[in-house]
Amino acid sequence: MRIFLIGFMGCGKTTLGKKLARTLNYNFIDLDSYIENKTTEKITEIFDKKGEQYFRDLEKESLNEICKMDNMVLASGGGTPCFSDNMQTMLAKGICIYLKMESEDLAERLKKEKNNRPLINQLTGNTLIDFISEKLMEREVFYKKAHHILPATNISKTDIIKLIS
Ligand code: S3P
Repeated sequence: MRIFLIGFMGCGKTTLGKKLARTLNYNFIDLDSYIENKTTEKITEIFDKKGEQYFRDLEKESLNEICKMDNMVLASGGGTPCFSDNMQTMLAKGICIYLKMESEDLAERLKKEKNNRPLINQLTGNTLIDFISEKLMEREVFYKKAHHILPATNISKTDIIKLIS
């Protein structure tokens, strides 16, 4: 089985994904780390040097490679489901779980964790908050296609295990 965790930057896909994979005895893959290992470049460097479209192509290619593996939990990037046919790929290849969090909570978290995130690392204050709420609204069209939608704030790995078993 493959489990895909999707949701906005900062919703906790990686933290929860690691715990879940450990419990299920599955492999854990973080899509951004996979791309960084493959290219030996940081995500911010890829955006800076080659632009977002280049990153999105790499993201799609990497997702398709990862989908060939079984028994794994993937923490996707916040934008992964919203580009190309990535959402259809994830829906077809496994169980897709959207970790839903409100934009105010995301903004609170992302204020402290934006350095390695090229889409927001230059934004502060209200500009950051506005960006998050607008992008979240745009992206929820894709996120909401997930098989399951769970509140990211209080979710535990046990809740997910119950859901998928
Ligand atoms: C992105 C989210 C990031 C990373 C890249 C673009 C996005 O992943 O893929 O910076 O478009 O939302 P995280 O959601 O893990 O921060």
